[in-house]
Parts: sequence; C-alpha cells; structure tokens
Amino acid sequence: MAARKAVVDPEKRLQWWREARFGMFIHWGLYSLLERGEWIMYCERIPKSEYAALAGRFNPRKYNPDEWVAAAHHAGMKYMVLTSRHHDGFCLWDTATTDYSAPKTAAGRDLVAEYIDACRRGGLKVGLYYSLLDWRWPAYWLGPEKAPEAWAEFVDYVHEQVEELVTRYGEIDILWYDGGWPWNAEQWRSQELNAMVRKHQPHILINNRSGLPEDFGTPEQHIAAEQRPWEACMTMDELWWGWHSGDPNVKTSMTLVRTLVQCVAQGGNLLLNVGPKADGSLPAVQASRLKGVGEWMARNAESIYGCSSPCGGLEVRHFGWVTARKKTLYLHVFYWCGEELVLSGLVNKVKSATLLATGQELKVAKDRDRTIISGLPRTAPDKIDTVIKLEVVGEPEGLGPYDSTFWQD
Ligand code: GLC
Repeated sequence: MAARKAVVDPEKRLQWWREARFGMFIHWGLYSLLERGEWIMYCERIPKSEYAALAGRFNPRKYNPDEWVAAAHHAGMKYMVLTSRHHDGFCLWDTATTDYSAPKTAAGRDLVAEYIDACRRGGLKVGLYYSLLDWRWPAYWLGPEKAPEAWAEFVDYVHEQVEELVTRYGEIDILWYDGGWPWNAEQWRSQELNAMVRKHQPHILINNRSGLPEDFGTPEQHIAAEQRPWEACMTMDELWWGWHSGDPNVKTSMTLVRTLVQCVAQGGNLLLNVGPKADGSLPAVQASRLKGVGEWMARNAESIYGCSSPCGGLEVRHFGWVTARKKTLYLHVFYWCGEELVLSGLVNKVKSATLLATGQELKVAKDRDRTIISGLPRTAPDKIDTVIKLEVVGEPEGLGPYDSTFWQD
C-alpha cells in the first residue's frame, strides 16, 4: 500500500526557517523590461495585447541563477523566493495551462527550473512566489458573484498552475502567495488548494496570503512583531520590487543590516528583495549593497542565525538592539557610547564579554542589574553595527524599570 505522505508538524517544518532568519526575494518578469516597477501594466493601464508583446522581447541572455544564489549566499541569506508569476500573469515556468510563459516565448527556457536547480546546487532553500490574481482575466475583476462561471474557470486555472509548481520540480520549501485581494479564502478555495500543496510537499511552508493563516505572517515594508512566526518583506529601493531604474533611494548596507537585526531582535525573519534587470543580471547598485551586508555578516552572522528576541526587561534603546540564543546575548551597538557601555535590566552574572568580530575580550562589572562593559574603543569599530557578545550564567532574566532595585538607593 502506498503510504500517504504525512504533513509534518508545523514546529518541525519551521525549524530551518527560524534558524535561517534571512532570505532573498526576487521580483523578475516582463515588467523588468520597462524598468518602472512590477505594477507598471496596471499603473499605466497598458492594454493587454501591448503588454503581452513584451514576451517577444523577454530573452534574458545574462540569466545565470547561480549568480543570484552566489550573491544571496555571500550576503548570508539562506533561502530565496522567486516570482514564478506576478500580477501580470506571465509565467516563468513551463506550464501546460497557457502559452503566456517564458519557455513558449522569446526566452525559450524554463526560468523557474533553472532557478530551482541553482538554489539546490548552492545549498539554499527554494521558495516560489505566486500571485493568485491575474490582471488579464476579466473574471478576476468581476469576481465570483457577478461572474460565477468565469470565476470558477479562473480559480481552476490558478489551482492547476499551483499544482504544476509543487509537482514538477521536486521539493519546494516555501510557497509564497500574494494578490488574494479583494477575494477571500473561500472564494479562492484556498483550503483545498493548500491541502493539495501539502499532500505533495509535506515539508513546505506556506505564507498567509491565500486568506488563511498557514505558517507565517508577512508584514510588508515594515517590521511588526507578531505572536506567530513572521517574516518582514522589504524592498531595497524606496518603493519598488521589480527593477525601477528611476528609484534613486537605494538603502545602504548599513540600513539593510540594521533592518535585519531589528527583525531578528523582535523574533522574525527578513526577506530582502532584489529586482534583476530584464537580461537577468542584478543591478550593480543592488549587488554592491548586498556585498556590504555580506561583509558584515562574515564577521557577525553568529548574532543572526538561530537568534531571536532576548528576555524582556532589558534597557537597550540608548545603544541599539539585542539578539539572543540561549545563554548568549548579542548587543548590537548602533549608537556608540564610548569606552563604556551600560546594559541595564540584566539580572544574571556575566561570564564573558567579547567583541564578536575580533574576539577581543572586554571587562565586565555588575552593579545590581547594571552590567557595565568597559575596555571598548572610543569610536565604533564597525560603523554599521558593532556586536558585543555576552555569555551569561543561567537563563537570561531581565528586570523592568519598575522592578529594578537601582532606584531604591
Ligand atoms: C504587494 C505587491 C507586489 C509585491 C508584494 C511583495 O502585494 O502587490 O507587487 O510583489 O507585495 O510583498
């Protein structure tokens, strides 16, 4: 009797993802040719036929997903999520459901297959983004009430496409839905859809954008700690996910590192976006920002992987943030305080304090719940974020200001 693959317990499924903390989001498709972001078809109301003609020009000669994987790997990212289809409906994989796909047009290649192979070769987990909505289908705009039959046909098409993605390419680690609005889980038949996905992929993680909570929340363009697993997704530019050559406000490596730290310090992941050019190459400015992140990660990744928020009751605002793993606290000093740094609220004794990047030992003294770290350089050794590693005795425990004995003297 063929054993039915049992769905894996959510905590087990999430284990690698919590450890990973940092992933690469990739928005890439026909819109990349126009260099005005991934919503351009909608924003400029480009007629369907005119937009579809882009498929005849979308031939990414420089597409080498091993390069994306290498860039992600060097930045310290552990997983990738690629737009298999965005709201414009153009499919990057070899689908039997439509000819509106990369393999059947100018590209002549299954871009998703190549991406998945590259992720596996590079040891990164594989994620696929899939937009439920498709602007080209009138049924999407009309909805299930006004056009029940057309809607049913459209939703069948969506289910079929998702089934292809989860059955043709071996193990997929993340299914990252988007574009459910304004319709709900019942209307997309999401329960059934996700049950099908899990039947084929017992280990898969599914995000919350099919209208069902599933495995993790996805705050977008902001950090919002949730009571459940969450991953903030953020652009590298100010606004756009797909390549927009006119968005001048590319975040610095410092901002990107500090964003990652803030996610981890609040118990979440960061999915940082890149928008490759139509030819498949990463824009130089994005590649160089990632490189900067990677240089910091090479020295400090220990304070990110498998880390989470520290115990409550620590006062950290005067210097930055704290990430924690078991009995180790990592003080991320964004605002350098000079030769001495005081962490208040920590009850525990401290076994050792070191500068994480160099291993240099620091002096620690305790004064009730004040932990006074000295022997620090006068100016920040790492302008991006200097990390001080504290090994404490016992489970870290914090005192809020109202419990602090300090004020009683
Ligand atoms: C939004 C946008 C979309 C982007 C996504 C990433 O839903 O519509 O363009 O892909 O967020 O989170």
